[in-house]
Amino acid sequence: MPSAAPCALVIFGASGDLSKLKLVPAVYELAREKLLPPDFALIGYARTAMTDDEYRKDCRKAIEENARSLKGKKPIDESIWKYLEQRIFYCAGQYDQVESFTTLNQKLTQVDKSCNTAGNRLFYISTPPNVFEPIISNLGKSGCAVRHANKSPYHRVIIEKPFGKDGASARQLNATCLATLGEEQVYRIDHYLGKETVQNLMVLRFANSIFEPIWNYKYIDHVQITVSETVNADDRAGYYDNSGATRDMIQNHIFQIMALVAMEPPSALDAQAIRDEKVKVYRSIRPIRQNQVDQFAVRGQYDAGRYNDGKKDIETSGYLKAKGVKEGSRTETFSAIKVFIDNWRWSGMPFYIRTGKALNKKLSEVVVRFRSPPTTLFQKQCEAPVFPNDLVIKIAPDEGIDWRLNGKVPGGTLNIQSVALDFFYKSAFHKEPPEAYERLIFDCMLGDQTLFIRGDEVEAAWNIIDPIELGWLESKLPPQQYVPGSWGPQRSMDLIELDGRRWFQTDQAGADPIIACSL
Ligand code: BG6
Repeated sequence: MPSAAPCALVIFGASGDLSKLKLVPAVYELAREKLLPPDFALIGYARTAMTDDEYRKDCRKAIEENARSLKGKKPIDESIWKYLEQRIFYCAGQYDQVESFTTLNQKLTQVDKSCNTAGNRLFYISTPPNVFEPIISNLGKSGCAVRHANKSPYHRVIIEKPFGKDGASARQLNATCLATLGEEQVYRIDHYLGKETVQNLMVLRFANSIFEPIWNYKYIDHVQITVSETVNADDRAGYYDNSGATRDMIQNHIFQIMALVAMEPPSALDAQAIRDEKVKVYRSIRPIRQNQVDQFAVRGQYDAGRYNDGKKDIETSGYLKAKGVKEGSRTETFSAIKVFIDNWRWSGMPFYIRTGKALNKKLSEVVVRFRSPPTTLFQKQCEAPVFPNDLVIKIAPDEGIDWRLNGKVPGGTLNIQSVALDFFYKSAFHKEPPEAYERLIFDCMLGDQTLFIRGDEVEAAWNIIDPIELGWLESKLPPQQYVPGSWGPQRSMDLIELDGRRWFQTDQAGADPIIACSL
């Protein structure tokens, strides 16, 4: 494992949920894995006034409740905490006032001396998006961050999503970043890229020679990407109503997954080569014109009802009744899109993607469905259908891969059944994959941008979404209501079923049980 140079990490939005649930716990886990440099400091920055000691207490609580290795059950490791505690500081300030950033700069200079952080600075912007631009500009104006080309000491900025709400705002945010910093200092985060299973997509495709010859429209019938959540948007409807499922999940997380599934092999495993290939995928996507939106995209809103998230019952009055939702809102809590990538590899072959809140299961998976074998060979002797082969890449939960093959049921007659060859991360590696944020913060400390999004990439992704959003503004078809706890609106079933295919999850219901054969 390479080691990270001394540095100070500043978290903007230190009192927010992301900081407490993910970022501070990730810092603890990095310390536990001995990946943090011995000379390290954490500075929380937010508007609320607080002393260093009060912030340290907050951090300890966040770690106890949310750190991956503690899961709110095991006690914190006191030796790690002792190391961290004396390296945690707090700075209260406004986001839009340069004077506050001058104070931060003074604090950073003090910390450089007391914690030997060598002037290396990593700024994590995890605030609401309306203050991204003032923060970036003020970092420059105050001298907290200066433009450099990977020189030492380094100044790097991680920017949380959403990176813009459309192409125009993303371009403007990119311009603001580049007015202060070089592209090699900007780390646009998408936490899905920090997930082991998402990174494994490249290993699966490019480290196994069996896939490449068949990884194209000639052998694959279609690809499905589902990212479904049981959680609803009732508690964050005020924010969500300005975003919706397409902007919140498809433009970033799902497009990143799709790009890794669809891209050409990169010439090297470095940031430039990989990101070049992903951009080519986005640029090859057939535009969905505004007037075609209802043919290729479906939007839904969850209705009132009671459903179970796998652990408990949840009651919702429906999205339209949630606090903060504008009357008659057309913001979608479910989105499904049929996408074509018009290049030589994927010509004419659809990618179906869908995501939503208040659905049946928390699940992120890619299903690569291969073309059906000619069935005439078996038809005379065998009534059971010959299933198409599926490669199911499970991103969460139960991280792993399933290969669905047809096997002969033992016995005198010819009966065929689908069997699954399973690979589970937990049992294969006897290790739980690390939290995405641990990997990503560490990569940023190392200066590795491979798992972060480049400026042209984010703009190319918005170029696909913009006409869909504009089409929906004008469409006469409002979002279709769906029953909470279901798989979404009927129109999403129609989107795929009218093509003679079915969503994988619904496909399985009622089918013959799959026989699992663990490898
Ligand atoms: C975030 C979205 O980016 O990802 C949330 O804003 C969503 O709406 C979350 O719930 C899902 O992340 P994960 O890692 O739980 O699949």
